[in-house]
Amino acid sequence: RRPVLIDTDTASDDAVALIMALRSPAVEVVAITIVAGNVPVEQGARNALYTAELCGSDVPVYVGASKPIVRDLESAEWFHGLDGLGDHGYAPARRTPETMHAVDAIIAAAHQHPGLEVITLGPLTNLALALHRDPSIVSRISRCVVMGGAPCCEGNVTPAAEFNIWVDPEAARMVFASGLPIEMIGWQLSRDEAVLSADDIARILAIGTPLASFAIQSNSVAAGAYEEQTGEPGISLPDPIAMAVLLEPGLSLSASSHAVQIETISPLTRGMTVVDKLNVSGDQRNASVWAASGRAEICWKLDVPGWKAALE
Ligand code: BDR
Ligand code: CA
Repeated sequence: RRPVLIDTDTASDDAVALIMALRSPAVEVVAITIVAGNVPVEQGARNALYTAELCGSDVPVYVGASKPIVRDLESAEWFHGLDGLGDHGYAPARRTPETMHAVDAIIAAAHQHPGLEVITLGPLTNLALALHRDPSIVSRISRCVVMGGAPCCEGNVTPAAEFNIWVDPEAARMVFASGLPIEMIGWQLSRDEAVLSADDIARILAIGTPLASFAIQSNSVAAGAYEEQTGEPGISLPDPIAMAVLLEPGLSLSASSHAVQIETISPLTRGMTVVDKLNVSGDQRNASVWAASGRAEICWKLDVPGWKAALE
């Protein structure tokens, strides 16, 4: 089984992604590391432990950064609920997090598990700090799937930026420039026909297991926020889409590799993922702007029926 480390700011869609990975026979989740994002880091850890317990998993959970590298945390309880899981009063998990810090856990896992695959479902703070502390992990990580960014420039926090990158753009900049083999799953992939419709939701509930009902119920506040934003019912699940591509790379139907820069200065475009589709970064005249950029494989098109089937 492929070793995988999941870095997450566990709220409602993160929880569904955790369930997918913990149930998959294709991967062994060696660690879950928690970062501040949707909810404060302690709440994220509680949510991950609760979700792992529902899956019957004793995967170790490590608490990481409680705030972005240079900014204050701006969380998203309005979208996920005060507890991040739709405020249904889930009982506390029996286990507590490990004592090792998440940044150390990422470094340790990269050294212990050859070919480790990493997937990030929240701001990139923990991974940036791990790379800063031990840059040798770059060559030990075989894949780094990042749920983040808005390569088509349709953000969900601002017109330019997606939440995970916007919350900690300095961390994102470090990760994208690190040389890691990044696969970027932008927010736009979770829109349009990839949104779970009322029929999709009914099909999942019909599975009739506690996990299936938790997956839908924990996203109730997110569903309300989605309807408020778009005027249509549905559940948009960016993190589970990233997890589906990690588990089944064939679900990415069209991808291409480009230089990517993260905007960290302008308030208007903070956290924007600037993708060099036309390779202007290859032109020496642009060298000062693009010098610090790394490359990412950007997924442009998702196998939507395949993604929805991956939820069952
Ligand atoms: C991302 O932000 C959070 O709301 C989700 O969990 C996802 O990781 C989407 O922009
Ligand atoms: Ca997330």
